[in-house]
Amino acid sequence: MNNNQKLVSLTGDRPTGPLHIGHLIGSLIKRVEIQDTHRSFVMIADSQAYSDHIRNRDKVSKSILQVLSDYISVGIDPNKTTIFLQSAIPEIQELSFYFNQLTTVSRLERIPTVRKEIFEKFTSPDVYNSDIPRNIPAGFLTYAVSQSADILSFNADIAPVGKDQLPIIEFTNEIASTFNKITGKDVFKKCEGVLSSNETLMGIDGKSKMSKTLCNTIDLNSSNDEISKKVKQMYTDPKHLRISDPGEIYGNMVFSYLDFFYKDKVHLQELKEHYKRGGLGDMTVKKILIETLIEYFSPIQKRRKDIDQDKLISILKSGTEVAREVAAKKVKEAKESLGLILF
Ligand code: TRP
Repeated sequence: MNNNQKLVSLTGDRPTGPLHIGHLIGSLIKRVEIQDTHRSFVMIADSQAYSDHIRNRDKVSKSILQVLSDYISVGIDPNKTTIFLQSAIPEIQELSFYFNQLTTVSRLERIPTVRKEIFEKFTSPDVYNSDIPRNIPAGFLTYAVSQSADILSFNADIAPVGKDQLPIIEFTNEIASTFNKITGKDVFKKCEGVLSSNETLMGIDGKSKMSKTLCNTIDLNSSNDEISKKVKQMYTDPKHLRISDPGEIYGNMVFSYLDFFYKDKVHLQELKEHYKRGGLGDMTVKKILIETLIEYFSPIQKRRKDIDQDKLISILKSGTEVAREVAAKKVKEAKESLGLILF
């Protein structure tokens, strides 16, 4: 099948730090799979990162090549996937401007993903149910609009994302349909948000989802020592004080991670029974997890070692050239359908 016949996939990440196991499970594994079946685009969303990092630009610029290395390390192949930089495609922001006219402030305030992030980033989380504060950056409230433009300017059929992003895909489809309705033309099609897996892995603290700011992640660029250190810090059962005590599996992060990464499910079941009964120490189970993760990370670490650092910029540059051509064509069509005069 040539590229033109394949369904289009588009997704991306804000470059605000190294990617971690949560990204791997939530999205990266799926991206590696679909690059063989779909025309795949992956965006490094540096403009979107500025929606909350405009005063922390160093972090964003440092993270761009870091994220690109993470992609390549997990097996996203630049020969199969077009990896590109959002800020280098001005047509996306142009489309976003028109989309901004097709939604309302209150609709944006109702997108659960955006709401949650606003309260997490700009206020204290205990005021979740109150009104959105008025002193947040206008561009943060509208980032979902710009994300719709990301997706729609590539005519994406699917967007492989984590669960938290699904409301934004739903919003994207609303924008697409409103646009088609007001122009009377079929410019944009529906995009389907696909989850890479139904599993969500909590951070090593067992309290919240993995987050750079909470320091509860296992980053994809971890060395074996770092993996081991993180596993040793993992939340288990606080009541499991002595090895002989019966232990709790539920909410015990070591078992949650083993559930995902340990292949021998029969043995894992035995370990769980043993732990519940008592007689199996935390350190023994942690050692099993450390070995499992080190084995899992080994090909990731090897690909990372093989990356030619000097080539990273040119990978990004050529991906961006390809992507810009695709997006510019679609945005031109959208402008035409809006009756704008094109020179
Ligand atoms: N909002 C996404 C995140 O924070 C990043 C992103 C930007 C994205 N544009 C996108 C995801 C388009 C999917 C499709 O991870």
